[in-house]
Order: sequence, then C-alpha cells, then structure tokens
Amino acid sequence: MTRPLILDVGCGINKLPGSLGIDRNARSRADVLCDLDHFPYPFRDSSFDGLQAIHVIEHVSDVLKTMEEFHRLVRGGGRVFLATPHYTDFSSFCDPTHKWHLNSFSFRYFGDDNAGYGYYSTARFREKKVHVKLLALWRYLGFELLVNAFPRFRRFWEHYLCFVVRGKVMEFEFEVLK
Ligand SMILES: C[S@@+](CC[C@H](N)C(=O)[O-])C[C@H]1O[C@@H](n2cnc3c(N)ncnc32)[C@H](O)[C@@H]1O
Repeated sequence: MTRPLILDVGCGINKLPGSLGIDRNARSRADVLCDLDHFPYPFRDSSFDGLQAIHVIEHVSDVLKTMEEFHRLVRGGGRVFLATPHYTDFSSFCDPTHKWHLNSFSFRYFGDDNAGYGYYSTARFREKKVHVKLLALWRYLGFELLVNAFPRFRRFWEHYLCFVVRGKVMEFEFEVLK
C-alpha cells in the first residue's frame, strides 16, 4: 500500500515527516522552493492526498486565492489542515509579517450554506473540524470547552467575549469537495 502524499505548505524547519515541503526560504527543510503568492504552485491538479499549512495562511497575500490553490492540489475527499492565530492572540498583531488577522469564521466562503458568502469562490470545502485554543486562564475556567463544544457559543464568544476571553490558536480541518 502506498503512503498518502501530504504537502506541507510553508513547512519552515518543522516539516511533517514523510511529507513534501514547500517554502520560499532556502534555510527551511523545503523539498521545493516556491513563493506561495505566485500561482500556480509547481504541481499537477489533485496530486496530493492531503495538505497542511501551519501558521502560514496569515502570511500570504490573498487568502481566498491560496485556498483555491490548495483545493486544486488536493484530490477530492482529501484533507486540508490549517493552524493560524486567532486575531485576539498576542502573536497575531505582534508579528509584522502577518498580513491577516483571522477569526474562527474566516473560512466560511467555500460552502453553499455559508451565510450567503459562498459566491466568493467556486472552490468547495466541507468544514470537518474547528478547534479554538484559548489562553491558559480561560481554558482552566472552562471557556475553551464551551467554545468548542457548542458552535452557537463560539459565535457568541466571537461577537461579545473574545476581546476579554482571548483566543490563541485556531485549527481547521477541511475535506476537499470536487
Ligand atoms: C511561522 S513560519 C511556520 C513554519 C512551519 N509551518 C511551522 O509550523 O513551524 C511561516 C513559514 O511560511 C513561509 N512563508 C511565508 N510566506 C511565504 C511565501 N509567500 N512563500 C513561501 N513561503 C512563505 C516562511 O518562510 C516560513 O517558513
């Protein structure tokens, strides 16, 4: 049986073992050097079973176009895993190379029933998992559990609480629909 082929986008020096890494930094562990803001990336359509981009999407110039490129590269049914800071985390605005400051609904533009925003893109993803990590104090007080267990509470948190009950990292898993 062949091993699934995973593309680690913006792999830096922490490339997922067994994956193919891309990055623009020659000092990274990338197998292929490329600029994520130049499309297309040098791979054929549907050539990967999965893709991860850990702390990368906030660095690219165009989030929607980049997601569309991820969609092109991964086969139907394959998974895309993203991790990125919540905009209320210290790191989001501290790092001057961050171009985007996102929340847990920032990827709702790739489905048909996404609050009417599905027309932003033709690429389709099914959201399989969203996990929000909060600062330790709020985690100990049970807020992280509530935010992740109840989508309506997550919405309430984003609208009313997150400037006090601050977020940290968000993790998203999508299924590629083709
Ligand atoms: C915060 S680091 C994350 C590295 C790794 N994914 C990790 O979790 O340790 C962001 C990475 O994205 C790469 N990167 C940022 N913008 C890029 C671009 N336009 N093209 C290629 N790589 C880029 C950087 O070189 C860097 O290695």
